[in-house]
Amino acid sequence: MPGIYQFSVDTLLTEVKEASDLGVLAVLLFGIPAYKDAVGSSAYDPHEAVQQAVGAIKERYPEVMVVTDVCLCEYTDHGHCGIVEGEEILNDPTLEILSKVALSHAAAGADMIAPSDMMDGRVAALRAALDRQGYTYLPIMSYAAKYRSAFYGPFRQAAGSAPRFGDRRSYQMDSANVREALREAGQDLREGADIIMVKPALPYLDVIRAVRESVRCPVAAFNVSGEYAMVKAAAERGWLDEKAVVLEALLSIKRAGADIIITYHAKEAARWLQEESI
Ligand code: PBG
Ligand code: ZN
Repeated sequence: MPGIYQFSVDTLLTEVKEASDLGVLAVLLFGIPAYKDAVGSSAYDPHEAVQQAVGAIKERYPEVMVVTDVCLCEYTDHGHCGIVEGEEILNDPTLEILSKVALSHAAAGADMIAPSDMMDGRVAALRAALDRQGYTYLPIMSYAAKYRSAFYGPFRQAAGSAPRFGDRRSYQMDSANVREALREAGQDLREGADIIMVKPALPYLDVIRAVRESVRCPVAAFNVSGEYAMVKAAAERGWLDEKAVVLEALLSIKRAGADIIITYHAKEAARWLQEESI
């Protein structure tokens, strides 16, 4: 992914400063752990990258909103988002581990958590765990409609989180299904989600629109790695006007109904939008 890097905690601070100087005042952190095991224990290790990074950012740049990804796939040696028995994903035992992850992020000072694992009942489980420990104010942005998508390819390569066996079809959604997205969104809201996310964005603009019309909370859209990589590859070949294409694509996500856009183009888009308004 050209222009996208893994950061150590110290270099991340420079990146956050650059982003916030451009007006990008919120970041979403994913971790690359020092070790992996069957149950993803490094995901809730207070000495690991995400927990350390949250603390460092909040100390230096308290005005920047720090959102953390809550999932296990970067942290498990098998690369699945939950714990497994044989080739099966164990939903409920995974909820206990995800709760520990969320609590470790909260303890580090995260402003919001974003569970992307897609286990059933995880918003309720995380909400209860956070509330029990006094983090009643901490919002949850739920990946409510996360489709099983080939557009996650570059991310999995960059984060080393591709599943070692099978695929994610038992927990991520079927691309053909829109009504399920509405059901998942409703369910997550009843469980206590504060923001509902649709992912990917561009191939699912109809889903963003449908969700926008069915819920009253903010809707977020995740413009994923494959969407970013396509534009970058074409722009490198001189086949597209990158600035115009990116701004048009982001606008289309907004038009579809997203209140929040998560995108790897954030810094350059912010720069381009500043140029536009001069
Ligand atoms: C995993 C996760 C994925 C992304 C974010 N969290 C990939 C996956 O489900 O395999 C994808 C992000 C992107 O492609 O930009 N929980
Ligand atoms: Zn995952």
